[in-house]
Parts: sequence; C-alpha cells; structure tokens
Amino acid sequence: MKGIILAGGTGSRLYPMTLSVSKQLLPIYDKPMIYYPLSTLIKCGIKQILIISTRDDLPIFKRLLGDGSQWGCSLHYESQDYPKGLADAFIVGNEFIGNSNVTLILGDNFFFGGNFENEILSRKDLNGGFIFALRVSNPERYGVIEFDNNFKAIGIEEKPKKPKSPFVVPGIYCYDSSVVSKAKSLNFSDRGELEISEINKAFLKDSNLEVKVLNDNTIWLDTGTVDSLMKANQFVETLQERKGILVGSPELSAFQSNLITKETLSILVESMSESKYGKFLKSNL
Ligand code: G1P
Repeated sequence: MKGIILAGGTGSRLYPMTLSVSKQLLPIYDKPMIYYPLSTLIKCGIKQILIISTRDDLPIFKRLLGDGSQWGCSLHYESQDYPKGLADAFIVGNEFIGNSNVTLILGDNFFFGGNFENEILSRKDLNGGFIFALRVSNPERYGVIEFDNNFKAIGIEEKPKKPKSPFVVPGIYCYDSSVVSKAKSLNFSDRGELEISEINKAFLKDSNLEVKVLNDNTIWLDTGTVDSLMKANQFVETLQERKGILVGSPELSAFQSNLITKETLSILVESMSESKYGKFLKSNL
C-alpha cells in the first residue's frame, strides 16, 4: 500500500493567511498541519508517500519533510498546476501508484482515536475500494452515504441539499490501482472538479466498495476554515496538555511502526530540544 497526501489548493477560505503560505504548512498548535496526515499514513504502515502540492509550495514541503529517510519512509513529490478536485490526485500520482494499492489522505484532515489505522493496515491486499463513514452534524457539507435497512451502502451524493443520512465520507480513501483509470474517465462536476464521490460511486456500482462505519471514538476534523482551524488548535492543545500525549508526530509514529529505532528517535528529539514539540516528544520517549 502506497500513500498520497493532497496538499494543494489555494486555501482561499483562509485568506490572507494563505496568500503566501500553503494551508497545509500552517500550524495546528505545535506542528505544521501536514504532520497530522503524514503521521496517520505512517501509523497505517505506509512507507512510500507522494505529496502533491502547487509548484510554488513544493520546495517548502521538501525543505520541511525531506526525502523521509529520517522517519524510515520514502517521500516523493509531484506538482498539481491548479486544483482540479480530489480525484485528480490519482492522475497526478499515476506513475507513483503503478500497480500498487493506494491510500489518499487530505492534507487538511485530522484524525484521532478509534482504530481506523488498523483497518487500513489489514487491507494491504485490497481489491476494490475501501472508505469510512462517520456521523456528523452537517452532512450537507460532505460526500453523504445512503444505507439500506441492513446498513449496506447503496448510494453516495456529493454535498446534497437533503442528505439521506448523517453519515459522510471523511478524507481518507483506499483503492486498488484501478482507481487511476476510473479517475481518468471522470468528467468535471458543476463546481469544476473531478469528484472523489464519483470514484466511490464507480466502485459501488461494481459492488466493489467496502464502507466501514467508524464509531464515535474517532475524532475527525477538517481544518480548512478559520473556525475549524481554531477548533483543531484547541483540540490538540487540550489533548496534549491534559493527557500528556503527543499527536500528529511523524517521529513518534515512525518509532511506533518500527520504522526507526529508539536511538534514531533520540537523535531526532535532540535536534528539536528547544521547542515545545521537542520537549513533548522527549517526554513521550
Ligand atoms: C471533499 C469531498 C467530500 C468529502 C470531504 C472530506 O469535500 O468532495 O466528498 O466528504 O472532502 O473532507 P471538499 O473538501 O472538496 O468540500
């Protein structure tokens, strides 16, 4: 299983903060936003990861994350000339994906708790598509799943005015490599995007889409607006200060996934010992 982080877009809902800086480089509490999806992928046992962003922002991501070897991973970079929708990630990532299965995670999505990483770990040899469903209070903002009486998914609608359920698809998606040809055959939607919901509908039509409903222990935040960004900051602060745990740390996730040794982790910690992040990391050793 390979991974893709989609970290493009204009971030226009966060202007002027994102006029000169990519949204996914803004901080959520003590670390850059992209650390969270990156450490989620690492926890899913994914070592080969493609980061897609704009031509202007890619050098900054490279400066921040490097080639990933410090975390026992291999990071690759591709640019997307303009935001064409989530499904475009599979067209841009075509060569990187090759014949592998792939997990796409959105660069501004934050996941915590539950056990969904193990669900992905156990689907390395996936055939078809595998997505999650989560209950939210504002389903009309998202891709909404319709279930039959046996809780089997029977339909998906992107941002419906009248949602058929409160269950939506969060920004992490797993597919086999047929996702590339499915993405290539999509037409642009009314909002001018290649929609991930259309990909999911194509797998569903082939009876090849597994939908796992996540329990309420799973926290999912998207951080694309000022208010949701603020809430994510406060959530991470509360979690880290109250529980004394560090979330969204690629170093810690790499160590927990046996990608780096304790010695390597200690060296990484030393290089950041002046910062709050480094101190937290040290206390989690
Ligand atoms: C996108 C998808 C939507 C999904 C959401 C998750 O929405 O189109 O199906 O539920 O991501 O964050 P967008 O961010 O484009 O509004």
